Amino acid sequence: MMKSKNISFTFSEYESLEEIDPCDRELVLSARKAAENAYAPYSHFKVGAAVRLESGVVVSGSNVENAAFPSGICAERNALANASSNHPGDKPVALAIMAATSSGLTEDTVSPCGNCRQVIAEEEIRNGNKIRVILGSRKKIRIIESAGDLLPLQFNRNDLELTLH
Ligand code: THU
Repeated sequence: MMKSKNISFTFSEYESLEEIDPCDRELVLSARKAAENAYAPYSHFKVGAAVRLESGVVVSGSNVENAAFPSGICAERNALANASSNHPGDKPVALAIMAATSSGLTEDTVSPCGNCRQVIAEEEIRNGNKIRVILGSRKKIRIIESAGDLLPLQFNRNDLELTLH
């Protein structure tokens, strides 16, 4: 018998940075700062991501493009790779994203691309905790309580049914 199923999630939206938790605000500001370090000569779209670790440490990343386009990497994956490589065992608990064009910070929020959603979701599974995603922009801030919400019916390591170390 066919069944219709529905997946939905709730997220919060704010009009200004003053409305959000000070720790989240600090993370958004770190992401904004990281966007300034982007190397984006092809798209001129500068993205910054900042990850808060369980210990309170904040690490950031920006997008780094390449003349061979697929060799470029997004800000989110750079930030998470930085965290995993330099702070092993310190779990990411939140990730903020800010983006800018040649006219300045984007008016609306920018969401992580599909590849980055997959990578953020793996961090949640790997560490067994949710990662809050905080999307900043000039006009609004959106907070999603779990990165997994952005990737319903996700493929993850449990599907491989392997013993992972
Ligand atoms: N980009 C990111 O860094 N993060 C996103 O969430 C979206 C896209 C980068 C990739 C590329 O360097 C540029 O933005 C335009 O797609």
